[in-house]
Amino acid sequence: MKKLWNGRFKDYAADWIEEFGASISFDQELVMEDLQGSIVHVEMLKECGIISEEDAELITGGLKSLKAKAEKNELLYDVSSEDIHLNLEKMLIEKIGPVGGKVHTGRSRNDQVATDMHLYLKKQVKEIINEIGDFQEVLMGKASGHIETIAPGYTHLQRAQPISFAHHLMAYFWMLQRDKERYQDSLKRIDLSPLGAGALAGTTFPIDRQMTAEKLGFSDLYENSLDAVSDRDFIVEFLSNSSILIMHLSRFAEEVILWASQEFQFIELHDSYATGSSIMPQKKNPDMAELIRGKTGRVYGHLIGMLTILKGLPLAYNKDMQEDKEGMFDTVKTIRTSLKVFTGMIETMSVNEQRLSAAVRKDFSNATELADYLAAKGIPFREAHEIVGKLVLKCIGEGKYLSDVKLEEFKESCPLIEESIYNILTPEQAVMRRNSYGGTGFEQIKLQLKQAEKALKKECVPQ
Ligand code: ARG
Repeated sequence: MKKLWNGRFKDYAADWIEEFGASISFDQELVMEDLQGSIVHVEMLKECGIISEEDAELITGGLKSLKAKAEKNELLYDVSSEDIHLNLEKMLIEKIGPVGGKVHTGRSRNDQVATDMHLYLKKQVKEIINEIGDFQEVLMGKASGHIETIAPGYTHLQRAQPISFAHHLMAYFWMLQRDKERYQDSLKRIDLSPLGAGALAGTTFPIDRQMTAEKLGFSDLYENSLDAVSDRDFIVEFLSNSSILIMHLSRFAEEVILWASQEFQFIELHDSYATGSSIMPQKKNPDMAELIRGKTGRVYGHLIGMLTILKGLPLAYNKDMQEDKEGMFDTVKTIRTSLKVFTGMIETMSVNEQRLSAAVRKDFSNATELADYLAAKGIPFREAHEIVGKLVLKCIGEGKYLSDVKLEEFKESCPLIEESIYNILTPEQAVMRRNSYGGTGFEQIKLQLKQAEKALKKECVPQ
């Protein structure tokens, strides 16, 4: 079939070679951005007197009718037209005649595709920012209901010190806050217009890049045409930010999986976020959490893929860059669905308060309380640590916990221990007394929730 770039060629590629080079199977995702970019470009060509008003009208009309069709999913793409840009240009020419070919005046597919991707990613990143915000609100809501729910806090996955369950949930709130800030900051660099850079060197036509940038809603322009068409940093940055976000989701997913297990039983997932086994009738599997943990692999993969694609590329455009799209699209989809699923999973899970509170009673996670108690009485902390360590060893030997130790026994370990120790050893006191800024103490959590609310309120997604 005749190509739009046919002039220089005598022969045609075989279908299978043509298919190898084509990107239409995936870059059709950019149809709206491509049409929007073309409409604005043509308006500018007209206003700068580069094409006549009459031609511009015809072309814009044609582009708008393609847009209406695209909205209804009625465009039929053809692999022999290679990519979304050539497909649309061909459709335009078919619709309005050869004048349609003027759409590409002063433009190249190189600045065109870069423009499309900037537009696409800007829109998607804003959606992601909002979706992170929705998740944070759910976390805050859950946390507010569990300020006084006491749970074991871990290090090395060994019971360490009791904490408020709200504190644990809010740790993820702040991770997400940083993730959101990273996306927000990246918008500055996504929000740049490459349009008008041409193939690599700019154009001889008296175009107005400022005008197209403004009409497309971009805040600024690329200063260098070579950079404009060969920059994919904004995609690398998006993939990096997404990798960090999904790493956080994956850690959280891992905890959800542990908590939902028979061994922990700290939470129960809503039936709609779990699945059964085809053979074992008793099973309720946390598939959604596992999938999110698993999908982390593909997002990291896309990041490494993109970095590798770019690493040896000479300026400016190279066809290698066509490989930038699938990973970006897949990451957008993966991040957005993972956020949505996670939000619902946390919103609907139930927290087993009895299990949690029983867990902190049958362990030695109050050992620090006793050590701190002795240190507060003037014993150097290192010695206090040793005294308590020996006592714990003794208790393990006798099959009991610190709260079961009689006062006389305590006094044998250290005569400074008094009756008041029993209250101090309760998990409630252990949590409540950790009132240092950012600590798990109930008062601190209330303050933290206020700070979280403030952080959510002050945000605004740039236009
Ligand atoms: N489909 C191409 C891509 O996505 C568009 C740019 C083509 N430019 C070129 N000089 N062949 O990279």
